[in-house]
Amino acid sequence: MLTVRAPATSANLGSGFDVFGAALERPADVVRVERAEETTIEMTGAGSEFIPEDPEKNTAGAVAEALDAPARIKIDKGVRPASGLGSSAASAAGAALALNELYDRGLSRSELVPVAAEGEALVSGEAHEDNVAPALLGGFTIAADEGVTRVDASIPLVVCLPDIVVSTRDARRVVPDTAAVEDVVDTVGRAARLTTGMHRNDPEMVGSGMEDRIVTPARAELIDGYDEVREAALAAGATGVTVSGAGPGVIAACYESDRREIAGAMLDAFDDAGVESRAYQTRIGDGATIH
Ligand code: HSE
Repeated sequence: MLTVRAPATSANLGSGFDVFGAALERPADVVRVERAEETTIEMTGAGSEFIPEDPEKNTAGAVAEALDAPARIKIDKGVRPASGLGSSAASAAGAALALNELYDRGLSRSELVPVAAEGEALVSGEAHEDNVAPALLGGFTIAADEGVTRVDASIPLVVCLPDIVVSTRDARRVVPDTAAVEDVVDTVGRAARLTTGMHRNDPEMVGSGMEDRIVTPARAELIDGYDEVREAALAAGATGVTVSGAGPGVIAACYESDRREIAGAMLDAFDDAGVESRAYQTRIGDGATIH
C-alpha cells in the first residue's frame, strides 16, 4: 500500500481571494492506495461521516477516474470538511500524488494541480486551484490563469477552527458582485505587500498584507465571534488575522514566540462568544509527501 500525507491549506489569505494559498505544516490527511479492478473508498477520521464513500461523489474517486487509476483508497481525515482548511483539496491532492505514483503516470506535481482541482470541483461546485496548488507544491502559492507560482516561505501561523459549519457554496454566495475602486487599490497594495513578505519570510509584512476590505467583511458575518477573535489575536501579538479560505477557520500570522499566546487568546475569545473551537499552532510547510 502506498501512503501519502497531504497537508491542510489556507486559501485567499485575505487580499488574495481565489489566488493565494499556503500549505500548513499541520493538520493533514493520510491517503493510502493500492491497485484494484474498481475504485473503492473508505473514509475515517475528522468529519468522515459527512463525506460520501461513493467514488462518483468523492474527490478522490474523481481523481482516480481522471488518472484512469482504479484503486482501493483509504483516507484518514485530519482536516475536517467545511473548515476553510482545504479539506477536500487535501484528499484530492493526496489521491492525485498517490495514484500518479502507484500507476507510474509520470505527471509532475504542477501537472497534477488541475487534476486535483477537478476532483475538488465535484465537492465545491467550482474548480479553484488555490487549495490544491499549495497542497501539492507546498509553501505559498499564487494560482493565476497563467499558471501557479510558488514561493518557499515559512511563516508561523495559528489557525483556530470553531465548531460551526460554513460550506464553500454558502460562503461564495455572500461575495459582493462589485467593489469600489479605492477598495480594489487597497487590496492590490496589500496583496503585493503580502507576496513580498513571503519572499522575505517577514511575518510583519505578511500580516499587514492579509487585510482585505472586499470579500472578508461579508464572510466574517457568517462566523460567530469573528471580530472578538480577531481583536484578541491582534492584542496577543498576531501581525494579521483573516478568514481562512471560505471559513469558518480563522488564520493569524505571527512570530513564533507569540504563537502559543495567540492560540490561547483565540480559543478564549471563541469560548466567550459561546463557540467551541480548537487551535492549531502551525506554519507554512511542505506539500504532500509520499511515505
Ligand atoms: N478561494 C475559495 C473561496 C476557497 O474562498 O471560496 C475555496 O476553494
